Amino acid sequence: MVRAVAVPEFRAAPRLLEVPVPPTGPNELRVRLEFAGMNPLDWKIADGLYEGRRPHLFPLILGVDGAGVVEEAGADVRRFRLGERVFGSFLHDPVGLGTYTTTTVVPESNAVAPVPASLGAAEAAALPTAGMTALAGLETAGPSAGRTLLIAGASGGVGSFAVLIGHALGFGVVALARPSSHARLRSLGADRTIDPGPGAAVAQVRAELPAGADLLLDLMDGPEAFGRLAGAVRTGGLAVSTIGAAPPGGRLPNGVGATNLNLAPSPSLLERLGRLVVDRKLAVPVERSISLEEAPAAISDSRAGRSSGKTVIRL
Ligand SMILES: NC(=O)c1ccc[n+]([C@@H]2O[C@H](COP(=O)([O-])OP(=O)(O)OC[C@H]3O[C@@H](n4cnc5c(N)ncnc54)[C@H](OP(=O)(O)O)[C@@H]3O)[C@@H](O)[C@H]2O)c1
Repeated sequence: MVRAVAVPEFRAAPRLLEVPVPPTGPNELRVRLEFAGMNPLDWKIADGLYEGRRPHLFPLILGVDGAGVVEEAGADVRRFRLGERVFGSFLHDPVGLGTYTTTTVVPESNAVAPVPASLGAAEAAALPTAGMTALAGLETAGPSAGRTLLIAGASGGVGSFAVLIGHALGFGVVALARPSSHARLRSLGADRTIDPGPGAAVAQVRAELPAGADLLLDLMDGPEAFGRLAGAVRTGGLAVSTIGAAPPGGRLPNGVGATNLNLAPSPSLLERLGRLVVDRKLAVPVERSISLEEAPAAISDSRAGRSSGKTVIRL
């Protein structure tokens, strides 16, 4: 048996439980986890995000991202060897074999990859979902050099990576975020930081970017606020939502393109992200490292929009 933060049923409060070590299938790796990375996706899954659409296993162990060492490889595994350090997105069917635990299994076809030599285990666990989402969001807009990127909800995990990667790819970066995060976001590469305040965000962004932003990456606004903020994007620019706020049809009334990003994790996207780390274009910022016992309280913080940057769980 191993310790895990899990829920016995959908929408139950996550708590520390003893769970059995899952068997390793022929195409799977069993990984001794060193760190898990926390994402809002973790508690959204426990709340039933995929209920009725994907098979689940209970108690459902939370956690998608992790980093650790391969301690067993199924007979058909080809990409990895015993003792190799790996990281990535461990989410697979049945949903529930998560990473908030010391040992888990993952199919080798998942978005998992060897940990780049320059990356520590905590940083590797912080990177996958938020990093891939930021990179995929920025890649939707085509060439980046000399263009401007506006990020809403920039304090969080995806936002922090979007600032870092946007800066590395040559975007001019404007971050909308709570003032307590401004200094940190500037240190990550934001050229301008703005406190969105109530209702004044578009005018403030237009004062900084009179021609309008080329790309908006919105990580927090519902449809109405998303449509309003897209008023800070130039005609012909693109507004991307990670929470499904873009309207069907792909276009807003002001001639701005709009799209919902649904991350499709893949080994190739993870490897492109790893390449940015190896090339020293991306340093992974870990804001908080907590114990498994502290994870339920950190989940409550995330639900309340109080998380800042990336939090990892030591295992
Ligand atoms: N569609 C996809 O494939 C996909 C992939 C990854 C993530 N997501 C979603 O994208 C969103 C951002 O992800 P993340 O990992 O960056 O999350 P996060 O670390 O929790 O950050 C979210 C940020 O949004 C802002 N925010 C303001 N009010 C909020 C509220 N009431 N509740 C929550 N956040 C609030 C905060 O930043 P400020 O203080 O700067 O405003 C917060 O740091 C989440 O909803 C996540 O589930 C979707």
